[in-house]
Parts: sequence; structure tokens; C-alpha cells
Amino acid sequence: MSPLDIAIAEGRRFLDSLSNRPVGPTGTRADILASLPASLPHQGLEPAEVVRMIARAAEPGLNCNSSARFFAWVNGGALPAAQATDVLVSLWDQNAVLAATSPAAAVLEEVAERLLLDALGLPPEMSVSFTTGCQMSHATGLAAARHHVLAKAGWDVEADGLCGAPRIRVIANAHRHGSVDRALRLIGLGTNCLVPITGPTVGRAGVDELNAALAANPGAPTIVVLNAGDLNLGQSDDFATLIPIAQAAGAWVHVDGAFGLWLAASPRLADQVAGIGLADSIASDGHKWLNTPYDCGMAIVRHGAALQASMRLTASYLSQGGDTRDPMNVTPEWSRRARSLPVLAALLELGRDGLADLIARCCDHALALHDGLAALPGATSIARPIMNQGMVRFDDTHGRNISDAVIGAINASGEAFFSGTTWAGERALRISVCNWQTSAADITRTVAAAAAAVARLR
Ligand SMILES: Cc1ncc(COP(=O)(O)O)c(C=O)c1O
Repeated sequence: MSPLDIAIAEGRRFLDSLSNRPVGPTGTRADILASLPASLPHQGLEPAEVVRMIARAAEPGLNCNSSARFFAWVNGGALPAAQATDVLVSLWDQNAVLAATSPAAAVLEEVAERLLLDALGLPPEMSVSFTTGCQMSHATGLAAARHHVLAKAGWDVEADGLCGAPRIRVIANAHRHGSVDRALRLIGLGTNCLVPITGPTVGRAGVDELNAALAANPGAPTIVVLNAGDLNLGQSDDFATLIPIAQAAGAWVHVDGAFGLWLAASPRLADQVAGIGLADSIASDGHKWLNTPYDCGMAIVRHGAALQASMRLTASYLSQGGDTRDPMNVTPEWSRRARSLPVLAALLELGRDGLADLIARCCDHALALHDGLAALPGATSIARPIMNQGMVRFDDTHGRNISDAVIGAINASGEAFFSGTTWAGERALRISVCNWQTSAADITRTVAAAAAAVARLR
């Protein structure tokens, strides 16, 4: 068999085993290392042998985030067309940096952008920068924001950097994801620029709190960061109210919509993110709720000029310009894979109705899973899902928190896979449902596994 045939056969074997194999990894670090050489051999190996060796080594350490009963972190599954297209992207090995290096990648990226904005009901004039994930989408959106607010203050940040620049403040929902802080570090603003705000509803920024923060230093270049779908409670900010307030004060509004943005595609749930299209930039992921394979984020920016000012680059050896957008003018990378193609495939596979159904279905399953778990002995609901996220705490008969032990026992059973969190000083099991394959039967089976774990541990 050729190396490629072996790789495809191994991948297929893994996918076919997903409904039967334990949902979590089956081995240890030592098991993974056991079949690999300790140092680089002088002589190279046969390509087929290399692929077999890597497949053998990885096997005990493979986590099944593509499984229908994987509810840890926020890991989406991969839709068949998106997955198969991702394989093609690897096989074609196009460099999606310029229209000249790959007309196919550049033109299809424009189509993916158009269909994505349409699916989410976002203004068609917004620009989409396809990145590696929401982390880099934050860096991209916030770099455009940095350009915009400093240009208004008469400062050319691309030429002069931040030394001596007017100080930017970033007013942000206190429940923001850590990737926002890291993006601020990456773009040189640092985390001391943050002004966290809370509000009367836990997880949401309040109107009075935003107004007070804006009024504290009215002339300062300001970025406001809001949430679509906080990862513990699933709370989204009131965009329709907060964004116009911030923009009237001259601020750029950036939204973390890693998975919450996708609520906009569901007529039943879109109310939770009403007004998100007013944002100046939104960071999101394909590899979470759109169910593309990994390595797929998107920074969606209203001000194409600000995005291009922060990203654009020219060099005499590049062939730029023409009737197709050069991706490098809107992305932080130079050479890059054609990662927008799985987005296009997922959108075409689902269609508008299929996407709406995927989002609503995951939310229904999250609610059923939460309610099933919260009804078990010793369980307390910490957050009943309003979208696809929730939290449940487990206590033993002495009132001691056994949430981590319950998570460990469920994971060890191989029936399902969860992760935990600390909420208000207490450990809790987190629920996240974002896989197209999850069914009602998977929820029943998972609750049964949890019931068995709780019965043993209490
Ligand atoms: C709310 C939120 N924002 C941002 C991120 C970072 O996304 P990525 O891992 O795609 O970089 C995550 C990841 O879980 C998230 O949950």
C-alpha cells in the first residue's frame, strides 16, 4: 500500500470505530512513546513505514472529540464534506497567500466569505480573514481595532509602533476568554490596558457599567470587547444596546463569538445575539460549532480598510492585484493552507436550514443532558443551558464536592467524555454539545453512564 492509502485506511478505521471505542484516550504518555525512536535515525525510513509508525504511536493517545458523546471543552465534530474537503486541501497543498499562487484557493475563499456572511445574517460588506482559530482571530480583529483607534488619534501604529503612542484602553466583559488577554499581549497592548466590567446579570456587561467606564476617560482611544456565548454560562451581551453606546463614544467594538456567533444562524436562538452585526469586528471559529476540522477560525471585520492597513504587505517578488482578493492582505500569515475550503464545504453540506437545525439541536441536547445529570442523586444545577453550555456539581452523601471524581469515572468508563471547571470557588462538570452527530440516544446513554458513576462514588 502507498503511504497515502495507509493514511486514508488508518483515518477511516478511526472514524469507523468512533461509535464503539472508548470516547477518551486509552493509553499513557509512555504508551504513545513506546513505538517511536528515542533519537533521529541516521537512515530515513520507508514512507509507508513512517505512516504506520506514527499511526501506531498515536493510537493510545487519540481523543475522540469527533464522537457523539464527547462533551468536554468546546470541541466540535467534523461534518463529512468538511472533513473530506480538508483532506483535499492537504493533498492539493495549495499556498493560499495570493490569487497568483492559487487562483482556486483565493476565489473559493471569496465564495466562502460571501456564504458565511449570508448564513450569519451579517452585513455583506464585512471582510472575513480566515485564520487558524479564534485566538488568532482576536489578534487579527484587535490589530485592525488598534489601527483604527490610533489613526483617529493621529498616530500611525504600523509605522511608529506603540512606543510613545496614545494609550489604548480595552473595556471588556469580565467573563472574557483568556484568548482575548493573550491577543492583547501579542499585539503589544498588554493586559494592563484592560478595564473589566460586570453587570446585574452574571456573565453580561451592564449598560451602567459600560457608560461609567467610557465616561472615566472620555478622550482615550478605546476598544470594547463583548461576548457572544460565554463558555461557562453561555451568556451573550446585549449587543443591540451596548454596541451603539460604545460606538457613540468613539470606541471600536470587538466581539468574542468563538461559538456564540453561530446562534445567529438559528431563527429560534438568534435573539440571544441580536445586534451582533453592529460590531466592528467579530472573532469566531469554524472548528467549534460549524463542525469543520481543526485549524479554522475567522476574523470578521466591518472596516476593510483598517484590516488591510494592519495586514497588507507588498514585495517585488510577489504578483499581486487583479480581480481576485489576495488573501495575504487580510490575514496575519504569509504562506497558509486553503483553510476556507472546509468552511465552504460545511456551509454547502448543511444549507441554511441544516445549519439552523445543527445549532438548535445541540442546544436541545445540552438542555436534556443537563436535566438528566442534574436529576441524579447529589447533583446540583449550576447553569441550566440557555444555549449549548451548562454546568452541574456533584456532592457525596457528606456534602463533599465529588465533581472531578464523577468526571473521572465517566471518562474512565469510555461511555462519554467531560471536562470540569471551577465556578464560584466550587468544582463542577461542564457540558458542551457541539457535534452534528449527537442524538437523543447518546444523551440517554451518557446520563446512564453518569448515574452508574454517581452510584459508585456516593
Ligand atoms: C469563548 C472562547 N473564545 C476563544 C477561544 C479560543 O479559540 P481557539 O481555540 O479556536 O483559538 C475559545 C476556545 O475554547 C473560547 O471558548
